[in-house]
Amino acid sequence: MKKKFLAALMCATLTVTTLAGCGGDSAKDGKNDIPTSQTGGNENTGDDSPENSGGSDSGIVIGFSQVGAESDWRTANTESMKSTFSEDKGYTLKFDDAQQKQENQIKAIRSFIEQDVKYIVLAPVTETGWDTVLKEVKDAGIPLIIVDRMVEVSDDSLYTAWVGSNFKLEGDKACAWLKAYADAQGVKELNIVDIQGTIGASAQIGRSQGLEEAVEANEGWTLLAQQSGEFTQAKGQEVMESFIKQYGDKINVVYCENDNEAFGAIDALTSAGYTVGTDLSKGEVLVMSFDSTNAGMTDVLSGKIVCNTECNPLHGPRVEEIIKALEAGNEVEKQQYVEEEIFAAGDEVTSITVGDDSFDVTTVTQEVIDGRAY
Ligand code: AHR
Repeated sequence: MKKKFLAALMCATLTVTTLAGCGGDSAKDGKNDIPTSQTGGNENTGDDSPENSGGSDSGIVIGFSQVGAESDWRTANTESMKSTFSEDKGYTLKFDDAQQKQENQIKAIRSFIEQDVKYIVLAPVTETGWDTVLKEVKDAGIPLIIVDRMVEVSDDSLYTAWVGSNFKLEGDKACAWLKAYADAQGVKELNIVDIQGTIGASAQIGRSQGLEEAVEANEGWTLLAQQSGEFTQAKGQEVMESFIKQYGDKINVVYCENDNEAFGAIDALTSAGYTVGTDLSKGEVLVMSFDSTNAGMTDVLSGKIVCNTECNPLHGPRVEEIIKALEAGNEVEKQQYVEEEIFAAGDEVTSITVGDDSFDVTTVTQEVIDGRAY
């Protein structure tokens, strides 16, 4: 992680869309077959012995398969889940860090089934490849809640509910901002490189698609290259170094699909002698990002990141709301999108329009950063 930041809980603002019936990556190698519990000890420690030895499980037992620890966003998300599903509040959280590998998530889910947890929560690394294991969850009669990224399954009764971001809208908003900003600066020619997220993850699919459509729609915009930075700072830097070698001075916009990739890209650009900043007409390179974590917003304040589209990680209370509804025997919304903001270094663009909707753009100040929870 680039910088340490405070993670705290924030109340969830959810937008209901449809109604249906109930139903740097972690450096450690190796993986426990039995996921660890919040009470039982550490996350994936790399040895093969069960870690769930802190006593008998009490309260509502939840198995949570987390993507990994690839980004500041992910750390905030894990913290939100762990602080929400605490022992004090009557839960046992069995937490598993999949180290960005779907096969680890499948193993963890099977282990949760074996342990007969009451709920399974899955933050899926990619969208596809879930049908078989989710059918096993359904057959075991365990409600499954998907959080953050989505799954693409043939039968949507395989999960009970999903809560997360509209990643395509995030991409559309970022590109609407870029269009308005370039127009305000009188620059028509944009030569863009895209450091993508983990290929096949909803966050990558939506953000890449938003950019690809905007490039198609805007004369003068060229997408020079796209490559995955796997949502990590190290890989983001590596990919940017290779883009610099291939395209050098041509590049005037770097579209990073999360904050950690942006930190890596900024390091690569600065080391290669480029100036990252906000003024296209002076030859500065614009770095755009997603997430709006504390460290990302600090880089917006200093002008290193010109625009940062929020992706809200505080899903713990949102998942708890779903579980409480299920516990009470109530129906839950099948899909819930989180409302998100967009932030910029300057005040040249104060609002943007995507389709029929318009969104305010907030200029980042220290006060704005201090008022945020992650
Ligand atoms: O799925 C959410 C994305 O995953 C966040 O943008 C990124 O930082 C994380 O790793």
